[in-house]
Amino acid sequence: MKITVVGAGAVGASCAEYIAIKNFASEVVLLDIKEGYAEGKAMDLMQTASLNGFDTKIVGSTNDYSKTADSDIAVITSGIPRKPGMTREELIGINAGIVKTVSSSLIEHSPNTIIIVVSNPMDTMTYLVHKTTNLPKHRIIGMGGALDSARFKYRLAEALGAPISDVDGIVLGGHSDTGMVPLTRLATRNSVPVSEFISEERLAQVLEDTKVGGATLTKLLGTSAWYAPGAAVSGLVQAIACDQKKIFPCSTYLEGEYGLNDICIGVPVVLGKNGIEKIVNIKLSDAENEHMLKSAEGVSKTNGLLDL
Ligand code: LAC
Repeated sequence: MKITVVGAGAVGASCAEYIAIKNFASEVVLLDIKEGYAEGKAMDLMQTASLNGFDTKIVGSTNDYSKTADSDIAVITSGIPRKPGMTREELIGINAGIVKTVSSSLIEHSPNTIIIVVSNPMDTMTYLVHKTTNLPKHRIIGMGGALDSARFKYRLAEALGAPISDVDGIVLGGHSDTGMVPLTRLATRNSVPVSEFISEERLAQVLEDTKVGGATLTKLLGTSAWYAPGAAVSGLVQAIACDQKKIFPCSTYLEGEYGLNDICIGVPVVLGKNGIEKIVNIKLSDAENEHMLKSAEGVSKTNGLLDL
């Protein structure tokens, strides 16, 4: 199993590290435009192999796409990250050009690859890949919901005073501060609805904290986060590489599901060796449905800024 990660910045390097540590891939190719940077990160990571006990080979390259040939899965993290006070949407101009070039270069060398888009604004970048490549929709996956759900579970565990392993929850909708739709109604602590343990007000606070999860970190770090984004991507990559048939919320092209059309937005999907193998239609409450439609409106508005 060969995996390419484009962009050796904090998110890309963290992706490569988590993929390698999980030891399911034979090779990870890390690519960056900055001379020597990916090679350096790859070498540093390879020097952790004997310490962390993995056999995955990590290869770094300065923008040489021939090194990525025949990748089974390719992750696009390239582009500029947001700075404190910026929204993900403000990155569109620069990142759209980058994502378009990167995706076509990847496909040229790996026509059968599955692409995972991480660059922001992620739902719009996923839509851009859908519109500008001929890849079937099950091979274009936007990573946002897996990260937002991990942040939701962190906030839920904190509010419940429970271990995270006891907590389950899912976030649908757009990967933006206003677009996320955390499904508090379906969140559980070891199969018991969380509403049995915490008040509606506390749950509303969890929801708000989840939505600004990325912005909170951007303010603290001075740039956007990388550990949780990297770990979330590695979870999607592993589900595909190991044909796990796991459910993750991912941004995917919708044709009528959730009452939405011609948009990429976060919904639950089953991930296996073919990429997105099924879109799971959850019955939403009226309020959730309204929230989802509003989220879609926001994503469509950002899509409208694309030069397609
Ligand atoms: C975040 C970025 C990766 O949410 O979108 O941290």
